[in-house]
Amino acid sequence: MHDMTAKKEAAFVAAGPHPNFAKWHKLFPTTAWLREQAPRNVPRFSFEYGDTGAGNDIGIAHNWAAFDNIKIVPRYGVTNTLPPVDVDLFGTRYAAPVGIAPMGGPALVWPGADLLMAKAAQRVRIPYTLGVAGGATIEEIARVAPDVFWLQLYRFYRNEHAIGLDLVRRAHDAGVKVLTLTLDVPVRTTRSRETYAGLANEFKPNARMIREMLVRPKWLMALLRNGYPRFATIGPYANSTKTNEIIRFARQNMGGAFNWDEVARYRDAWKGPMTVKGILHPHDAEKAVSLGVDGIWISNHGGRQIEALVPSIDALPGIVAAVGKKATILLDSGVRSGQDVLRAVALGADCAFAGKSFLWAVAALGDEGAEQLVDLYIDELRASLGQIGALSLAEAREATILHPGAIKF
Ligand SMILES: Cc1cc2nc3c(=O)[nH]c(=O)nc-3n(C[C@H](O)[C@H](O)[C@H](O)COP(=O)(O)O)c2cc1C
Repeated sequence: MHDMTAKKEAAFVAAGPHPNFAKWHKLFPTTAWLREQAPRNVPRFSFEYGDTGAGNDIGIAHNWAAFDNIKIVPRYGVTNTLPPVDVDLFGTRYAAPVGIAPMGGPALVWPGADLLMAKAAQRVRIPYTLGVAGGATIEEIARVAPDVFWLQLYRFYRNEHAIGLDLVRRAHDAGVKVLTLTLDVPVRTTRSRETYAGLANEFKPNARMIREMLVRPKWLMALLRNGYPRFATIGPYANSTKTNEIIRFARQNMGGAFNWDEVARYRDAWKGPMTVKGILHPHDAEKAVSLGVDGIWISNHGGRQIEALVPSIDALPGIVAAVGKKATILLDSGVRSGQDVLRAVALGADCAFAGKSFLWAVAALGDEGAEQLVDLYIDELRASLGQIGALSLAEAREATILHPGAIKF
C-alpha cells in the first residue's frame, strides 16, 4: 500500500469558489434541483442516457435509500468553525475526499462534458477519473487536469491486451496519477431508459431524437462548439474519428471484465497506484490487495448493471474491516451531497466519488455545471462536518452512527 503517513506537507490552500457559485447556489441549492432542471436543458435521450439505471431503476432507489438511512449523532460545544477537508490519496493532496467517477459517453449528455468536468476538478483539486469510453483523449485531459488525473480501463483483451497495455503506457506518459480497472461489467445488461433513448447500440439519431435536439438550442450550440460526441480515448486504435465506427471497433476488441490473472498482469505493467472498481465483497477486496492493488473502489456501478446488487455504502463497513488498514478505500453509487460524502468518510471511506450528479449538473447548467457542483460538494461537506462537531475528517470516524443496512458478511 502507498505510504500515506511519511510525508509532511504544507497546509492545503483551497481554491475559492467559482465566481458564479453564489448565483447558481440560490437557484439550485442541492443536486435534486439540478436533476429537476437537467431534462429541461438537454434532449430527452441525453437525460435518459445519463440518468438511467438497470431495469426499473430500483438499484438507484436502493442506493439513495441506503445513504438516506444512515444517521449521525452530533456532538456540540466543540466547534463553531468549518473544518478543513483536504485529504491525501496515494501520496497526492486533494481539496476534499470527493471525486468524479469515470463515465463513458458524458458528451452525449452535454457536449464537451469530459473536459468541463476535468477542468472543474483541477480548479479545486479533487480527483477526476477519465473513463476509457470517454469523450476526450488521455493527452487532452493531461493538459487541463495534470494534478488530479485518474484513468479507468475496461478490458480490451484482443491481441493479448495490446490496446489495454498501450493505454497503460499512454497513461504513464501523460502523468496519470491513479489507474483503475473496472471489474463489475462481466456481461452486458439492459438499461431500459438508455434502450428507449435509442442509445443502447450506437449513436444514430432517429427522427424523434432530432426533434428532441431541435427544441434544446443551448445543447445544440454546445454541440456546434464541441462537435459530435466521440469516443476519443480509444479513437486512435480504431483509426477513425467517426463515433459509430469507434463503437463497433470497441465492441470487437473489448468485453467482459478483468479476471484476477489479468489484474495481476496490469499490476505488473502499471508502476503507479492502482485500484479495482466495482468491489462489493470483502473477499474480493482481500484478493485484490493480495495482488498488490493499492485501492479498493466499492461500487455497484450506480445501479446501472442490475437492480439486485447491494448498495456500496452498506458493503463499506465489511470491506473496511477486511482491508481498511492495507488499502485506500474509495466508494461510489448513490452519492448526491456533501452529507453523503460525510457518511461515507465517517464509515471508513477515504474518498467518495459521484457520477450521475455531475451529469445532472452539466445538463442543468451547461459549461458551468461541473464548476458549480465541485463547489457544492465541498461546501456541503465542510458544513456537515462542522454540524456534527468534528474538527477533522478523522474525527468524523469517531461519531456515533446509525447504519441499519450495514451488511454482516
Ligand atoms: C453515463 C454513465 C456512464 C458510465 N460509464 C462508466 C464507465 O465507462 N466505466 C466505469 O467504470 N463506470 C462507469 N459508470 C459508473 C460510474 O463510474 C459510477 O460507478 C457511478 O455512476 C456512481 O454512481 P452514481 O451515478 O450514483 O454517483 C458510468 C456511469 C454513468 C452514469
